Amino acid sequence: MLDIRYELSSKLKDKPKDESKLGFGNIFTDHIFIMNYDTGKGWHDARIVPFGDISLSPAAMCLHYGQEIFEGLKAYRTKDGSIQLFRPDENFKRMNVSNERMVIPQVNEQDCLDGLMALLNVEKDWVPHTEGASLYIRPFIISTDPYVGVRPADHYLFIIILSPSGAYYSTGLNPVKIYVESRYVRAVRGGTGFAKTAANYAISLKGQDEAHKQDYEQVLWLDGVEQKYVEEVGSMNIFFVIDGKIVTPALTGSVLPGITRKSAIEVCKKRGYEVEERRISIEEVAKAYDDGKLDEVFGTGTAAVISPVGHLKWNDKIMTINDNKIGPVSQMLYDTMTGIQWGTIPDEFGWVVPLTEVRE
Ligand code: COI
Repeated sequence: MLDIRYELSSKLKDKPKDESKLGFGNIFTDHIFIMNYDTGKGWHDARIVPFGDISLSPAAMCLHYGQEIFEGLKAYRTKDGSIQLFRPDENFKRMNVSNERMVIPQVNEQDCLDGLMALLNVEKDWVPHTEGASLYIRPFIISTDPYVGVRPADHYLFIIILSPSGAYYSTGLNPVKIYVESRYVRAVRGGTGFAKTAANYAISLKGQDEAHKQDYEQVLWLDGVEQKYVEEVGSMNIFFVIDGKIVTPALTGSVLPGITRKSAIEVCKKRGYEVEERRISIEEVAKAYDDGKLDEVFGTGTAAVISPVGHLKWNDKIMTINDNKIGPVSQMLYDTMTGIQWGTIPDEFGWVVPLTEVRE
């Protein structure tokens, strides 16, 4: 069992008054979990301390070369007041895949889960009580060596911050407008697309900015070689329902292996849908639209949950999907995923992990 030192705050913040207006990622709880890594010593000094600014050298390597990885998961409050997580082991498993790609030392996945459980025990009153709101959990690792040469670092910080949050998109469950980016790319073959690392998000800002200027909320990225095949949205994976069949881009190395994506595929298969993970070109999507066979488009993500797409803009072509309304597959998935996460329906897949009690 991970040995954790507690240094708790004597002055707690006021909790949000109106949980229906939380937005996403603006508010942070009273404490964080933190541990250090030093070459030769490994991960050590696990502690829970007050949330506050951290001190870093201006030469810290993460600030210059972005040697960083992160994760995103949520804690949900059920109707009976208990707290549960959704497949948290998958997040720490993926964290080590990202670590490997970014030459960051591996973490002990059980220690990370123990640290998270301990932090949630301290912060459990911050888990929202309102439907649709949850406690967003952001574990991340940064390199901290004060050094301006380029090499993998010898010193790192692993930190978990918590943020009570509502819907990621301001539109809530209303369909989002998505712009297909044909100029810039997010990831290339052999790059970092499959890892959850800051670089993938920094590189996407330019496309997102262009999309916003045209009144679109998010960008659908095409592959970085031919700009032909659909990849992902950056904040979510993408699914198409074409003539009753569900199609999602295969994990070719430049797409994030989303945990919600993987779960949505399992749910759809169990409900009897045919699901194809394969390369899908944007031309095929446009043709399905022209033939009246593009039934639904939706995204999946921890933050985005299940987000229907109402409009897709590819160059001058604007596709309005399912009359800009949520379709039956998206609704079924939304109801199933949120039902399992908030405990309003039975967890037939065994995905939910209850918060375990941890003594200080
Ligand atoms: C998540 O869904 O947890 C993510 O990390 C995506 C991020 C853009 C909010």
